[in-house]
Amino acid sequence: MDSVDKNSKIIGLLNDALKAEFSAIQQYWLHGLTLKHWGFHKIGQLFIDESVEERAHVNKIAKRILQLGGYPKFDAIDKVSIGEDIVEMLNYNLTFEQNTIIQYRNSIHEISSQHDYTTADMLTDILIEEEGHKEWLQSQLRIIAEIGVAQYLVENMHSEE
Ligand SMILES: [Fe+2]
Ligand SMILES: [Fe+2]
Repeated sequence: MDSVDKNSKIIGLLNDALKAEFSAIQQYWLHGLTLKHWGFHKIGQLFIDESVEERAHVNKIAKRILQLGGYPKFDAIDKVSIGEDIVEMLNYNLTFEQNTIIQYRNSIHEISSQHDYTTADMLTDILIEEEGHKEWLQSQLRIIAEIGVAQYLVENMHSEE
């Protein structure tokens, strides 16, 4: 594979990552706004904070695509799941993060085999954060299973601000 083909393959994988990141941004953002609208300001803000973290991932990936001579695609997005309640929202985001983690692992494997360790390392840093997101969502669902959804929501109504 010559270097043009190699780069276009890597740029393609990075644009796939952008698509997943844009979907994550929109889903967390929509859930955050909805939760705040329902009066659950604290948990709503945490969802919006997650959305901001996903945006930082877009920043890193898009910059790398430009460095590789490609065009970052900002117009592609996967399905955004709305969610009727907090448990559904947490589960939708958990599924999303789990799929993204698999996608990143596969891309890192492929890009490492092309010897582009700079891109692979960048994606590994993002992967670590996605695993953190997955753990946070799992712990929220565990807390709900322990204390019940009503109690969880009471504790997550008010933000400190
Ligand atoms: Fe992300
Ligand atoms: Fe994430």
